[in-house]
Amino acid sequence: MSGPSRPNSKLGSTTSAERPREGERLQKVLARAGIGSRRASEELIAAGRVVVDGTTAVLGQRVDTQHARITLDGVPVVVASDVVHWLLNKPVGAVTTASDPQRRATVMDLVPTTPRVFPVGRLDRDTEGLIVMTNDGDLAQLLAHPSHGVEKEYLAEVEGVPTPAEVRTLREGVDLDDGRTSPASVRIVQQRGDSSALSITIHEGRKRQVRRMCDAVGHPVVRLVRVRIGPVVDRQLPPGKWRPLTPAEVRGLYASALSTQNDASKAPG
Ligand code: URA
Repeated sequence: MSGPSRPNSKLGSTTSAERPREGERLQKVLARAGIGSRRASEELIAAGRVVVDGTTAVLGQRVDTQHARITLDGVPVVVASDVVHWLLNKPVGAVTTASDPQRRATVMDLVPTTPRVFPVGRLDRDTEGLIVMTNDGDLAQLLAHPSHGVEKEYLAEVEGVPTPAEVRTLREGVDLDDGRTSPASVRIVQQRGDSSALSITIHEGRKRQVRRMCDAVGHPVVRLVRVRIGPVVDRQLPPGKWRPLTPAEVRGLYASALSTQNDASKAPG
Protein backbone atom coordinates (compact mmCIF):
# COMPACT_ATOMS: atom_id res chain seq x y z
CA MET A 1 0.00 0.00 0.00
CA SER A 2 1.55 3.31 -0.92
CA GLY A 3 -0.88 5.43 1.14
CA PRO A 4 -1.33 9.18 1.13
CA SER A 5 1.88 11.19 1.15
CA ARG A 6 3.09 13.24 4.07
CA PRO A 7 5.59 15.54 2.35
CA ASN A 8 7.69 16.50 5.38
CA SER A 9 8.25 12.91 6.42
CA LYS A 10 10.89 12.49 3.76
CA LEU A 11 12.94 15.57 4.67
CA GLY A 12 16.39 15.10 6.13
CA SER A 13 19.02 12.50 5.41
CA THR A 14 18.36 10.03 8.25
CA THR A 15 15.39 7.82 8.98
CA SER A 16 13.74 7.65 12.40
CA ALA A 17 15.27 4.19 12.89
CA GLU A 18 18.73 5.76 12.48
CA ARG A 19 18.00 8.38 15.15
CA PRO A 20 17.50 6.08 18.16
CA ARG A 21 17.66 8.68 20.94
CA GLU A 22 15.20 11.09 19.37
CA GLY A 23 11.48 10.95 19.72
CA GLU A 24 9.32 8.71 21.85
CA ARG A 25 9.28 4.98 22.19
CA LEU A 26 7.06 3.48 19.56
CA GLN A 27 5.09 1.26 21.93
CA LYS A 28 4.21 4.30 24.05
CA VAL A 29 3.11 6.24 20.96
CA LEU A 30 0.96 3.33 19.75
CA ALA A 31 -0.61 2.91 23.18
CA ARG A 32 -1.49 6.60 23.30
CA ALA A 33 -3.02 6.33 19.83
CA GLY A 34 -5.43 3.73 21.19
CA ILE A 35 -3.86 0.67 19.60
CA GLY A 36 -3.65 -1.22 22.91
CA SER A 37 -1.53 -1.35 26.04
CA ARG A 38 2.22 -0.80 25.74
CA ARG A 39 2.67 -4.54 26.16
CA ALA A 40 0.19 -5.30 23.39
CA SER A 41 1.86 -2.68 21.20
CA GLU A 42 5.25 -4.31 21.79
CA GLU A 43 3.80 -7.61 20.64
CA LEU A 44 2.49 -6.00 17.45
CA ILE A 45 5.94 -4.50 16.80
CA ALA A 46 7.65 -7.84 17.50
CA ALA A 47 5.21 -9.55 15.12
CA GLY A 48 6.33 -7.21 12.32
CA ARG A 49 2.89 -5.65 11.92
CA VAL A 50 4.03 -2.07 12.48
CA VAL A 51 5.80 -0.08 9.77
CA VAL A 52 7.46 3.32 10.29
CA ASP A 53 8.35 5.42 7.27
CA GLY A 54 8.16 2.36 5.03
CA THR A 55 10.39 0.12 7.18
CA THR A 56 9.19 -2.64 9.50
CA ALA A 57 9.52 -1.32 13.05
CA VAL A 58 11.76 -2.91 15.67
CA LEU A 59 11.37 -3.13 19.43
CA GLY A 60 12.90 -0.16 21.21
CA GLN A 61 12.54 2.13 18.21
CA ARG A 62 11.78 5.80 18.83
CA VAL A 63 9.69 7.94 16.53
CA ASP A 64 9.09 11.61 15.87
CA THR A 65 5.31 11.73 16.28
CA GLN A 66 4.93 14.92 14.26
CA HIS A 67 6.47 13.47 11.11
CA ALA A 68 6.63 9.67 11.22
CA ARG A 69 4.27 7.72 8.97
CA ILE A 70 3.16 4.75 11.01
CA THR A 71 0.97 1.90 9.84
CA LEU A 72 -0.42 -1.18 11.57
CA ASP A 73 -1.33 -3.98 9.18
CA GLY A 74 -1.08 -1.43 6.36
CA VAL A 75 -3.57 0.97 7.94
CA PRO A 76 -2.27 4.40 9.01
CA VAL A 77 -2.14 5.12 12.74
CA VAL A 78 -2.62 8.81 13.51
CA VAL A 79 -0.13 9.81 16.20
CA ALA A 80 0.41 13.55 15.66
CA SER A 81 -0.93 15.34 18.72
CA ASP A 82 -2.37 18.27 16.73
CA VAL A 83 -4.53 16.09 14.45
CA VAL A 84 -8.17 15.92 15.52
CA HIS A 85 -11.26 14.13 14.21
CA TRP A 86 -14.72 15.25 15.24
CA LEU A 87 -18.02 13.54 14.52
CA LEU A 88 -20.81 16.11 14.14
CA ASN A 89 -24.53 15.41 14.00
CA LYS A 90 -25.45 18.11 11.52
CA PRO A 91 -28.88 19.62 12.10
CA VAL A 92 -31.21 20.77 9.32
CA GLY A 93 -30.35 24.33 8.27
CA ALA A 94 -26.56 24.23 8.66
CA VAL A 95 -24.62 24.56 5.42
CA THR A 96 -21.70 22.19 4.85
CA THR A 97 -18.97 24.62 3.93
CA ALA A 98 -15.84 26.04 5.52
CA SER A 99 -17.04 29.59 4.85
CA ASP A 100 -20.32 30.88 3.51
CA PRO A 101 -20.29 34.18 1.60
CA GLN A 102 -24.01 34.57 2.40
CA ARG A 103 -23.18 34.28 6.13
CA ARG A 104 -25.66 31.47 6.73
CA ALA A 105 -25.18 29.10 9.70
CA THR A 106 -22.54 26.53 8.79
CA VAL A 107 -21.17 23.32 10.27
CA MET A 108 -18.09 25.36 11.29
CA ASP A 109 -20.24 27.21 13.85
CA LEU A 110 -20.99 23.91 15.62
CA VAL A 111 -17.44 22.70 16.39
CA PRO A 112 -14.47 24.30 18.20
CA THR A 113 -12.69 26.99 16.18
CA THR A 114 -9.21 25.68 17.06
CA PRO A 115 -7.64 23.68 15.70
CA ARG A 116 -9.32 24.59 12.45
CA VAL A 117 -11.10 21.61 10.93
CA PHE A 118 -12.96 21.07 7.68
CA PRO A 119 -16.02 19.02 6.79
CA VAL A 120 -15.31 15.79 4.89
CA GLY A 121 -17.78 15.53 2.05
CA ARG A 122 -21.06 17.34 2.27
CA LEU A 123 -24.63 17.03 3.38
CA ASP A 124 -27.36 19.23 1.87
CA ARG A 125 -28.62 22.08 3.99
CA ASP A 126 -31.88 20.18 4.52
CA THR A 127 -30.15 16.87 5.37
CA GLU A 128 -29.34 15.86 8.95
CA GLY A 129 -26.86 13.43 10.38
CA LEU A 130 -23.29 12.37 10.71
CA ILE A 131 -20.40 14.25 9.18
CA VAL A 132 -16.69 14.03 9.95
CA MET A 133 -14.84 17.29 10.62
CA THR A 134 -11.05 17.03 10.73
CA ASN A 135 -7.67 18.60 10.03
CA ASP A 136 -6.36 15.17 8.97
CA GLY A 137 -5.74 15.86 5.29
CA ASP A 138 -4.82 12.25 4.55
CA LEU A 139 -8.11 10.87 5.87
CA ALA A 140 -10.14 13.68 4.32
CA GLN A 141 -8.61 12.99 0.93
CA LEU A 142 -9.22 9.25 1.20
CA LEU A 143 -12.84 9.64 2.31
CA ALA A 144 -13.71 12.32 -0.19
CA HIS A 145 -12.25 10.57 -3.21
CA PRO A 146 -14.93 8.73 -5.20
CA SER A 147 -12.63 5.78 -5.96
CA HIS A 148 -12.63 4.87 -2.25
CA GLY A 149 -16.42 4.68 -2.10
CA VAL A 150 -16.82 4.33 1.66
CA GLU A 151 -20.39 3.25 2.48
CA LYS A 152 -22.79 5.91 3.65
CA GLU A 153 -26.13 4.86 5.06
CA TYR A 154 -29.17 7.14 5.07
CA LEU A 155 -32.58 6.94 6.62
CA ALA A 156 -34.94 8.46 4.08
CA GLU A 157 -38.54 9.21 4.95
CA VAL A 158 -40.38 9.30 1.65
CA GLU A 159 -43.85 9.97 0.35
CA GLY A 160 -45.78 6.78 -0.30
CA VAL A 161 -44.52 3.22 -0.12
CA PRO A 162 -42.24 2.01 -2.93
CA THR A 163 -43.36 -1.15 -4.68
CA PRO A 164 -41.01 -4.15 -4.82
CA ALA A 165 -40.16 -3.16 -8.42
CA GLU A 166 -39.30 0.40 -7.33
CA VAL A 167 -37.11 -0.92 -4.50
CA ARG A 168 -35.37 -3.16 -7.04
CA THR A 169 -34.72 -0.14 -9.28
CA LEU A 170 -33.26 1.80 -6.34
CA ARG A 171 -31.02 -1.18 -5.59
CA GLU A 172 -29.89 -1.97 -9.11
CA GLY A 173 -29.40 1.55 -10.44
CA VAL A 174 -31.48 4.62 -11.17
CA ASP A 175 -30.97 6.64 -14.36
CA LEU A 176 -30.16 10.19 -13.26
CA ASP A 177 -29.14 13.07 -15.49
CA ASP A 178 -25.50 12.47 -14.52
CA GLY A 179 -25.68 8.73 -15.24
CA ARG A 180 -26.95 5.52 -13.68
CA THR A 181 -26.33 5.09 -9.95
CA SER A 182 -24.19 2.22 -8.71
CA PRO A 183 -25.83 -0.68 -6.88
CA ALA A 184 -27.18 0.33 -3.48
CA SER A 185 -28.58 -1.50 -0.46
CA VAL A 186 -32.20 -0.52 0.03
CA ARG A 187 -34.73 -1.75 2.62
CA ILE A 188 -38.12 -0.50 3.66
CA VAL A 189 -37.78 -0.18 7.45
CA GLN A 190 -41.16 1.35 8.23
CA GLN A 191 -44.53 1.81 6.48
CA ARG A 192 -47.15 4.28 7.64
CA GLY A 193 -49.93 4.21 5.05
CA ASP A 194 -49.05 7.20 2.92
CA SER A 195 -45.35 7.35 3.81
CA SER A 196 -42.45 5.06 4.54
CA ALA A 197 -38.90 5.04 5.83
CA LEU A 198 -36.12 3.52 3.75
CA SER A 199 -32.60 2.55 4.72
CA ILE A 200 -30.42 3.39 1.71
CA THR A 201 -26.69 2.63 1.63
CA ILE A 202 -24.65 4.07 -1.22
CA HIS A 203 -20.94 4.18 -2.07
CA GLU A 204 -21.08 7.24 -4.27
CA GLY A 205 -21.41 10.86 -3.22
CA ARG A 206 -23.14 12.65 -6.04
CA LYS A 207 -24.96 15.89 -5.41
CA ARG A 208 -28.36 15.29 -3.76
CA GLN A 209 -28.04 11.67 -4.81
CA VAL A 210 -30.47 10.03 -2.41
CA ARG A 211 -33.11 12.70 -2.99
CA ARG A 212 -32.76 12.37 -6.77
CA MET A 213 -32.90 8.55 -6.59
CA CYS A 214 -36.12 8.67 -4.59
CA ASP A 215 -37.60 11.38 -6.85
CA ALA A 216 -36.80 9.22 -9.88
CA VAL A 217 -38.95 6.34 -8.58
CA GLY A 218 -41.78 8.70 -7.62
CA HIS A 219 -41.25 8.86 -3.84
CA PRO A 220 -39.88 12.29 -2.89
CA VAL A 221 -37.85 12.51 0.30
CA VAL A 222 -39.47 14.40 3.15
CA ARG A 223 -36.66 13.87 5.68
CA LEU A 224 -33.11 12.61 5.14
CA VAL A 225 -30.68 11.57 7.88
CA ARG A 226 -27.18 10.14 7.40
CA VAL A 227 -26.86 7.45 10.05
CA ARG A 228 -23.55 5.77 9.17
CA ILE A 229 -20.22 6.57 7.53
CA GLY A 230 -18.25 3.35 6.95
CA PRO A 231 -18.09 1.75 10.41
CA VAL A 232 -19.07 4.94 12.28
CA VAL A 233 -22.56 5.12 13.79
CA ASP A 234 -23.93 7.09 16.74
CA ARG A 235 -27.58 6.99 17.72
CA GLN A 236 -26.99 9.02 20.91
CA LEU A 237 -25.34 12.16 19.55
CA PRO A 238 -27.96 14.94 19.55
CA PRO A 239 -28.40 17.16 16.46
CA GLY A 240 -25.97 20.11 16.58
CA LYS A 241 -23.54 18.26 18.89
CA TRP A 242 -20.12 16.79 18.18
CA ARG A 243 -17.74 14.38 19.85
CA PRO A 244 -14.22 13.15 19.09
CA LEU A 245 -14.01 10.01 16.98
CA THR A 246 -12.36 7.21 18.94
CA PRO A 247 -8.97 5.93 17.72
CA ALA A 248 -10.75 2.71 16.69
CA GLU A 249 -13.26 4.70 14.60
CA VAL A 250 -10.46 6.64 12.91
CA ARG A 251 -8.70 3.38 12.10
CA GLY A 252 -11.98 1.93 10.89
CA LEU A 253 -12.48 4.86 8.50
CA TYR A 254 -8.95 4.52 7.15
CA ALA A 255 -9.38 0.76 6.82
CA SER A 256 -12.69 1.00 4.99
CA ALA A 257 -11.39 3.67 2.58
CA LEU A 258 -8.28 1.61 1.85
CA SER A 259 -10.19 -1.67 1.50
CA THR A 260 -12.69 -0.25 -0.96
CA GLN A 261 -9.75 1.17 -2.92
CA ASN A 262 -8.24 -2.32 -3.06
CA ASP A 263 -11.58 -3.91 -3.96
CA ALA A 264 -12.04 -1.36 -6.77
CA SER A 265 -8.59 -2.08 -8.17
CA LYS A 266 -9.37 -5.82 -8.14
CA ALA A 267 -12.76 -5.42 -9.79
CA PRO A 268 -13.01 -6.44 -13.45
CA GLY A 269 -13.09 -3.59 -15.97
N1 URA B 1 -27.98 12.46 -0.69
C1 URA B 1 -28.74 13.55 -0.72
O1 URA B 1 -29.68 13.63 -1.49
N2 URA B 1 -28.44 14.56 0.12
C2 URA B 1 -27.43 14.51 1.01
O2 URA B 1 -27.21 15.46 1.77
C3 URA B 1 -26.64 13.36 1.03
C4 URA B 1 -26.94 12.34 0.17
